[in-house]
Amino acid sequence: MLEIRDLECGYGPVAALKGVSLDVGEGELVALIGANGAGKSTTLRAISGLVKPRAGTIRFAGADITGADPARILSLGIAHCPEGRRVFPYMSVADNLAMGAYLRRDPIRVREDYDRVYSDFPRLAERRHQAAGTLSGGEQQMLAIGRALMSRPKLVMFDEPSLGLAPTIVEQTLGIIRAIRDGGATVLLVEQNAFAALELCDHAYLIETGRVVRRGGGPELIADPHVRAAYLGG
Ligand SMILES: Nc1ncnc2c1ncn2[C@@H]1O[C@H](COP(=O)(O)OP(=O)(O)O)[C@@H](O)[C@H]1O
Ligand SMILES: [Mg+2]
Repeated sequence: MLEIRDLECGYGPVAALKGVSLDVGEGELVALIGANGAGKSTTLRAISGLVKPRAGTIRFAGADITGADPARILSLGIAHCPEGRRVFPYMSVADNLAMGAYLRRDPIRVREDYDRVYSDFPRLAERRHQAAGTLSGGEQQMLAIGRALMSRPKLVMFDEPSLGLAPTIVEQTLGIIRAIRDGGATVLLVEQNAFAALELCDHAYLIETGRVVRRGGGPELIADPHVRAAYLGG
C-alpha cells in the first residue's frame, strides 16, 4: 500500500534521511523505531507532504505522491497524527475534529464519524465545547487521534503518541491504535518506546542516522542483539 524507495530528505545543510526504503502492506501495523534525531518524524513528514524529498520515491495505493501537496495526500487517504499532538488550543474539541474533515464533501458520513469518535472517546464528548488547550495531555492525544480519524483515512501515521503521557494512558493509547488497525485501517507508528512498538507491530524498521539498519517482525527484532543492547536496555 505504501512503498518508499531510497528516500532522501534534509533541512538546509542537514541530511536527515540518506536513502530510506520501506513497505507497509494494507491492514498492517508497521513500527518505526530509533533514537532521537534518527529521522523518524522526517519520514512521516515526507509521506504527508510537509517535507519535500531530495531524492527517492513515495508511492501510495499505486499513485506516485513524491513531493505532492499535503492536501492531495490527505485526500488520497493518509492522515498524520503529529509529534506533540498539535491540537488547536483555542478552538473547541468539536472544531478541532472538524479540521480533520475539512476536505470531505459527505456531510452525512462526517456526522456519523463525529458520533463514532464521541462514542469511542466519551471524555471528548463531555468536553466538546471546551477549548482544546484546557484538556489534559491524554485527552489532547485522544483528540489528535480522533481528528486524524475524521478524514476516514486508509493509512494513519502516529508520531510518538505515548510521549509525555502517564503509563496507564500510554497503554490506553496503544490499545486504541491497535483497535484502529483491527478496524481495517493501515497504521504506521513511530515510537521511542521500542519494546511497546515491537510487541504491537506486524513488522518494524529500525532507523539510525537517516538509514534503515534493521527490518523484521517484532519478535525477531526483540531477539536481535543490537536492538536489545541499544534500545531495549540489554
Ligand atoms: N526543522 C528542522 N530543521 C533542521 N533540522 C531538523 C529539523 N527537524 C529535524 N531536523 C534534523 O533532522 C534529523 C532527523 O530529525 P527527526 O526526523 O525529527 O528525528 P526523529 O523523529 O527520529 O527524532 C535530526 O538530525 C534533526 O536534528
Ligand atoms: Mg520525532
